[in-house]
Amino acid sequence: MQLREVLGRRRSIRFLDPDRPVEIDKIQRILEAARIASHWGNVQSLRAIVVMKDSAPSQVIDALEAPIAGFQIRIAPVVIVWYLDTAAVDAQADRLRELLAAGALGFGEDKHRALEENLIPLFASLIDTLKEPGLGEVDCGQGIAQATLMAFEQGLGACCLGTPYGDKICANLGLPDTARVLLLQTVGYPAEDWQAGGQRPRRPFEELFSLNVSGNPFPRAPEVVEELRNDGMFTAPAPLPGREEELEHLKTRLGLEGHGLF
Ligand SMILES: Cc1cc2nc3c(=O)[nH]c(=O)nc-3n(C[C@H](O)[C@H](O)[C@H](O)COP(=O)(O)O)c2cc1C
Repeated sequence: MQLREVLGRRRSIRFLDPDRPVEIDKIQRILEAARIASHWGNVQSLRAIVVMKDSAPSQVIDALEAPIAGFQIRIAPVVIVWYLDTAAVDAQADRLRELLAAGALGFGEDKHRALEENLIPLFASLIDTLKEPGLGEVDCGQGIAQATLMAFEQGLGACCLGTPYGDKICANLGLPDTARVLLLQTVGYPAEDWQAGGQRPRRPFEELFSLNVSGNPFPRAPEVVEELRNDGMFTAPAPLPGREEELEHLKTRLGLEGHGLF
């Protein structure tokens, strides 16, 4: 599958098949995709614990909780607990030296001295700020996005779930004090059609993106839109006909009760 088609198929898939385990090599590819994502200073603070429902201890499974549409955690065969370890920031000087040695950063004869005398002290002076929520979360989000695309490229479905229960998750999963739980990601084979009711709504392109100055909408060429539609990146908008019936069927098949929002 081309990247464009993978992007077109990526949806939050909330209905996963609880009875179909996910092959471990598919999970590995997901993690491999996350690992090669960008990170400021090449610090690499993204971590994950993969919880496989068929082998994880009950105290781990019981700690996984999300308040919005949390039924997904019950039915998913795999839940990836993505977290950020701020301790990675402590090794930023070594990561920068590695970048220099790799030929990625700096040029000229003076670059080693500039690194040791300027750049590393600059980062060191910002270390507390850099551990705070902000830039690190952006980097981790890039890794999670790459992981998500790899899941869909392999025919899997996934959904990110925010949770306020990070402390409980940290305690039950034995995460270090330096960990910040980012989100829980359910992964499995979709129980719903890949279209999942169609492309979810998006704010207009012109409202989101500007050229040069704020309020000057970035020009959107219709030919490019058409090209991306032809390549499968843009798919039919939700709700597709029959979606309500599909949802009713999923509710019965997966034994879900109530309104499914909580
Ligand atoms: C960081 C993050 C947290 C999210 N948390 C939840 C959640 O707790 N429950 C849920 O059902 N969906 C959650 N979602 C999914 C969003 O609701 C979804 O991405 C959005 O509605 C757009 O739909 P789409 O992903 O199918 O394009 C989350 C998505 C992200 C990126």
